[in-house]
Amino acid sequence: MDTSPQNTLAETIFAGLNPEQRAAVETTEGPLLILAGAGSGKTRVLTSRIAYLIGVCGIPADQILAVTFTNKAAGEMKERVEKLLGPVAHQCTIGTFHSVGVRILRKEIGHLGRSRGFVIYDDADTIWVVKEVLKSEGLDPKVHDPRRIRWQIDQWKNAGLLPAAAEGQAAISTPSSARGSTRNISGSSPRARPSTSAICCS
Ligand SMILES: Nc1ncnc2c1ncn2[C@@H]1O[C@H](COP(=O)(O)OP(=O)(O)OP(=O)(O)O)[C@@H](O)[C@H]1O
Ligand SMILES: [Mg+2]
Repeated sequence: MDTSPQNTLAETIFAGLNPEQRAAVETTEGPLLILAGAGSGKTRVLTSRIAYLIGVCGIPADQILAVTFTNKAAGEMKERVEKLLGPVAHQCTIGTFHSVGVRILRKEIGHLGRSRGFVIYDDADTIWVVKEVLKSEGLDPKVHDPRRIRWQIDQWKNAGLLPAAAEGQAAISTPSSARGSTRNISGSSPRARPSTSAICCS
């Protein structure tokens, strides 16, 4: 009988799983999609799989990344993995998409020439910035809706446009001087500014 720690852990893990859950835990190669309803044992599968990968397959714990939507779910996962594995579980990266994202950014942001002390603007902050840019361009935030402008910036970011490319597309309506028409504020105009000043919509 195999009484190695790996085998004992494998038995402990499998004892709490039904055949479908066990199949998911034992599938360690390639991508794996598990579709299951609420309360059906998804978290148990995920945490068991993490424990199996580390404790049975010998995968280093610091090579494990698990992301969830809520802090509650992340806390629950951490707790359950720790229960199965002990303190080595702390070496795994388990968190929400946002917390993991910001952790990676803080660690690696130096590669972009920025400081680790950056702050993340919330909704109100971003609207404030757009209003400030409008004012500095002599444009009225009551006429040029900051939310609409922020939406346009969001679209450009989602499309992967860098500021220079976005600037090429930026046009702003000029209701007072040419009602209904638009002008492009990029290019050789003396009013043209790089990046943020070109965040206008037609
Ligand atoms: N094979 C199993 N045998 C007995 N109990 C199980 C089994 N799988 C899961 N459970 C238990 O069922 C409950 C729900 O499991 P779990 O939290 O893993 O489900 P979930 O799909 O992640 O739920 P949610 O949708 O709420 O996130 C937990 O108490 C868990 O311990
Ligand atoms: Mg769950």
